[in-house]
Amino acid sequence: MSSRVLIFDSGVGGLSIYREIYKLFPDLNYLYVFDNIAFPYGEKSEKCTIKRVVSIITAVTRVYQLSLVVIACNSASIVSLPALRSRFMFPIVGVVPAIKPAAQLTRNGVLGVLATQGTIRRSYTHELLSRFAGSCSITMLGSKELVELAESKLRGNVVPINIIKRILQPWLMMALPPDTVVLGCTHFPLIREELTNVLPEKTQLIDSGEAVARRIACLLGNTSYAVGPKTHNIALCMDSNQQALQLVPALNNYGFSRLEELTL
Ligand code: DGL
Repeated sequence: MSSRVLIFDSGVGGLSIYREIYKLFPDLNYLYVFDNIAFPYGEKSEKCTIKRVVSIITAVTRVYQLSLVVIACNSASIVSLPALRSRFMFPIVGVVPAIKPAAQLTRNGVLGVLATQGTIRRSYTHELLSRFAGSCSITMLGSKELVELAESKLRGNVVPINIIKRILQPWLMMALPPDTVVLGCTHFPLIREELTNVLPEKTQLIDSGEAVARRIACLLGNTSYAVGPKTHNIALCMDSNQQALQLVPALNNYGFSRLEELTL
């Protein structure tokens, strides 16, 4: 059985991380798993998220041999990494908001954080802010609606710009809006173009994709995770309902030729 790299999210956001990893490692065997039953984790309690993530990764290990797991979701990584790392032997890479690089890039000293409510609320995010962005003025927006818009885009729908404008309104009204925005949710790079169209010109949008890919390069470079010959990349969901099936064309475009259901 060849070994696979698992990319995990509650929805399609993890694809923004996957595409950065794929650029460096096109020949690995990938599994993309999304928890469309508990989506979105940003609205769930810590306990519920940890339970879901642990039981799903456990279920995947019953069927596939894994060499590396990427929790490609800020909301899930922030709460579940310690529980996962204490249970599994393979390396587990998480995704957290790119606050440190963003704080170094701001020119006007105003840093925006765009994420889910869960990520905005968690003390982990506040610790990152006080550690790395202490000299910045911080403005945060938590939005589940933006996550849903990214999902809808990957189902083939157009993202209505007026809705994006409404969500970003608090920043659009500021006398000195953030010139640098942390995309603290993996769904948001999927709607980067739409966000750019609405935010003031030259606003820099910083996501975590490249940093995660570099981390994986480090891990794979330093060890001998045998991945075996290239096979088909597979996507797994928790309920192959109509909404999940609407994602099949997008998943195919990303190189996932099959969508299957995972049983817990
Ligand atoms: N992709 C997730 C994140 O990065 C957002 C969706 C969710 O809340 O599960 O936080």
